[in-house]
Amino acid sequence: MSSKLVGLKNWIDDRFPMTKMWNEHLAEYYAPKNFNFLYFFGSLALVILIMQIVTGIFLTMYYNPTAEGAFRSVEFIMREVPFGDVIRNMHAVGASFFFIIVYLHMFRGMIYGSYKKPRELIWIFGMFIYLALMAEAFMGYLLPWGQMSYWGAKVIINLFGAIPGIGTEIAEWIRGDFVVSGVTLNRFFALHVIALPIVLLMLVVAHILALHEVGSNNPDGVEIKKKKDENGKPLDGIPFHPYYTVKDIFGIGVFMIIFMFVVFYWPEGGGYFMEANNFIPANPLLTPEHIAPLWYFTPPYAILRAVPNQGLGVFLMFASILIFFFLPWLDRSPVKSIRYRGPLFKGAMLIFVISFFVLGYLGILAPTEGRTWAARIFGSLYFLFFLLMPFYTSIDKTKPVPERVTQ
Ligand code: HEM
Repeated sequence: MSSKLVGLKNWIDDRFPMTKMWNEHLAEYYAPKNFNFLYFFGSLALVILIMQIVTGIFLTMYYNPTAEGAFRSVEFIMREVPFGDVIRNMHAVGASFFFIIVYLHMFRGMIYGSYKKPRELIWIFGMFIYLALMAEAFMGYLLPWGQMSYWGAKVIINLFGAIPGIGTEIAEWIRGDFVVSGVTLNRFFALHVIALPIVLLMLVVAHILALHEVGSNNPDGVEIKKKKDENGKPLDGIPFHPYYTVKDIFGIGVFMIIFMFVVFYWPEGGGYFMEANNFIPANPLLTPEHIAPLWYFTPPYAILRAVPNQGLGVFLMFASILIFFFLPWLDRSPVKSIRYRGPLFKGAMLIFVISFFVLGYLGILAPTEGRTWAARIFGSLYFLFFLLMPFYTSIDKTKPVPERVTQ
């Protein structure tokens, strides 16, 4: 480095902990050397969060948050604004990819026991991120003011009406009106572009600070801090920079190729990323034949629809999401990683994953008697995975965990 640059660096370091932060979080953050591809998804989630914010800023420049102008302004962005279609498709497809990545990131945490002591807070911050992300996606979906935006918001807000005693007032408070209207659109816009992105960014900072306090878990579930060399560096750790920065950049490259391919050639994703009904302007007098949320909400939605009593259905729908918060305390296994767990946990995990997919699929389809029963069966299996966890994880036959990570 030239002496002028070193001088500038020292000048900044005397006034701001730049080098200290660089070392603490990158150059001297020792990460386990056995990360596999499932460890790409944290940094990918960060990349897509930034991408959503940047594309969102450009969309806001042309978007008109009124009931009269919203739909037309989105059409204007798609047809007239230079590169408007690319930016809009990146943002809309980005929402679905965000959830794909976050679900894989959570799944990684579940199979490697990353929520277990001492990483409970990383998991809890993650769960708050997940809740904020759901609220962000739900509010964003109202903004194009298409048929599904309108009717989806109406159905979901009405659910709050099922809360005993104060439900009607809460639903009105959320809408700001007696029906979903331009007032609702305006407040959802404010929350979507300002409030929730700030909350998300703050939660992500807390999530990563908590991670760097205790250190990363890994596919073996071995605590690398337990075995250190004479300099106090973990024997199984490598500095995050340059090893994982380079690895993550590779992952980001592969991801961007797949992502941009979808943005350019398949933005509707067969109706999973953008629904046909949302290309029709919102019409409060015309109910679509079948109302379903986008795929990432459909597992809890299928649980809601499976219960005949609306109040209980709403309770179970929220419970199916909030129950993840308790995983660190439901899991009594002495080992973290699925590699050293016994058949009971592996079987339970498999049944849970299948139930999640089946519920997700059922939530997209129009309900029939047979599908409702299927949702009841798979919804019960979904909950049993959590509720029986303290039992099957404490009696499961685990394998001995090695002292050091394996490659
Ligand atoms: C905007 C969303 C999110 C971002 C940007 C994010 C970011 C990150 C990053 C950069 C890491 C370290 C790299 C890695 O281990 O992959 C990480 C680790 C982790 N995240 Fe997230 N995360 C997000 C959402 C979530 C959610 C929703 C959960 C769970 C509910 C979660 C749970 C965890 C756990 C348990 C770890 C530690 C994993 C380990 O050490 O094995 N994260 N996150």
